[in-house]
Amino acid sequence: MTDDKSSMLYWHPKIKDLRIPQPRTETVLLDGKEMVDVNTEKIPQSVVEKVRKVVEKFNLPVFIRADQASGKHFWKMSCYFDGSDELEKHIYEVVSANLCADIIGLPVCALFVREFIPMDTMFTAFYGDMPVNPEIRFFIENGKVLCWHWYWIEEAIRNPSIENWKETIKKRQDDLLYEVDALTKLSATEVAHIFRDDGFWSVDFCKAKDGRWILIDMAEGEKSWHPEDCKFNRTPKIDLFPNAKPVTEADFIMIKEAEASVALDHDEKNQTISFESAGSEKDETDSKTSCLNNEKPQKSDMPSENPAGDKTKEEELWNTICGSIDEWQKSTGRNFIEDYENMMRGN
Ligand SMILES: Nc1ncnc2c1ncn2[C@@H]1O[C@H](COP(=O)(O)OP(=O)(O)O)[C@@H](O)[C@H]1O
Ligand SMILES: [Mg+2]
Repeated sequence: MTDDKSSMLYWHPKIKDLRIPQPRTETVLLDGKEMVDVNTEKIPQSVVEKVRKVVEKFNLPVFIRADQASGKHFWKMSCYFDGSDELEKHIYEVVSANLCADIIGLPVCALFVREFIPMDTMFTAFYGDMPVNPEIRFFIENGKVLCWHWYWIEEAIRNPSIENWKETIKKRQDDLLYEVDALTKLSATEVAHIFRDDGFWSVDFCKAKDGRWILIDMAEGEKSWHPEDCKFNRTPKIDLFPNAKPVTEADFIMIKEAEASVALDHDEKNQTISFESAGSEKDETDSKTSCLNNEKPQKSDMPSENPAGDKTKEEELWNTICGSIDEWQKSTGRNFIEDYENMMRGN
């Protein structure tokens, strides 16, 4: 199945029978072939039918998620399913949000259908009209609660549905503060006890409309968002380009010159670029891959020579660009594209 502890397949069986309020939950396991398909963003009909069968055991709406995440920001297109449109589309959005999460994505090993619990929603946000609910994240380790944080911070909200959303969040959090103490001493501590020999964890509770705090989500602590200034934060800093060297002024000039030699004329329709000086077209992907792969362009990639055997303007240009990049890479031992990307990112 999976040895990833942040997968719901790992943590959910350990807490599901505690008396802490939780959504009724059914698991949809994927077989090997389905897993391969789903992880390449294809949703086989067999998976849709498995999920449909499970959904039929619930009253609509239901909450659908994968073992790692729900794609919550796309809410009405993803995890929230009320039967008003195609189930397949929701499964696709949930899966796709997982596969596109962070840099390398989260693998999908199972799907879960959960009872939809009306939450104490303050307003909606994001493209999918996601309900923003009072939600608390605890961090636990060695049988103890280390700290807790409100999940929805101002910086995380986009496209809120009401004007005074900041005041609304603040007021609701102030009003609920007295409940946090009880939640810390009871439910969060109970979970901490279950995971006492199992490392560092985040545990999320969401406030329901009926007043209960619902245990909805867990993940390994290091992989969970944690305010930077919390002394218990151990989230490793991700260095996208650990070996990147700063681009020198000379490199920068070289890059600028190389850029200036080609006039990129993007044709929006067919995505081709033309070499303006010669007035003919070459496929953009062709030219990019040759440089990206650090390979010299093949003869077949090159613009044809004229019958007299002279180099055409196109070929000269092609050699200037790819030749100089190639030479520069050889002499510096560096990668043009990587350095260029670093520069564009301001690294
Ligand atoms: N069973 C449920 N019923 C109603 N809302 C839910 C339910 N489970 C989660 N939510 C809401 O959906 C959001 C995302 O759910 P969660 O399971 O934590 O997925 P993710 O890992 O993507 O954050 C939560 O922040 C909560 O507001
Ligand atoms: Mg969550």
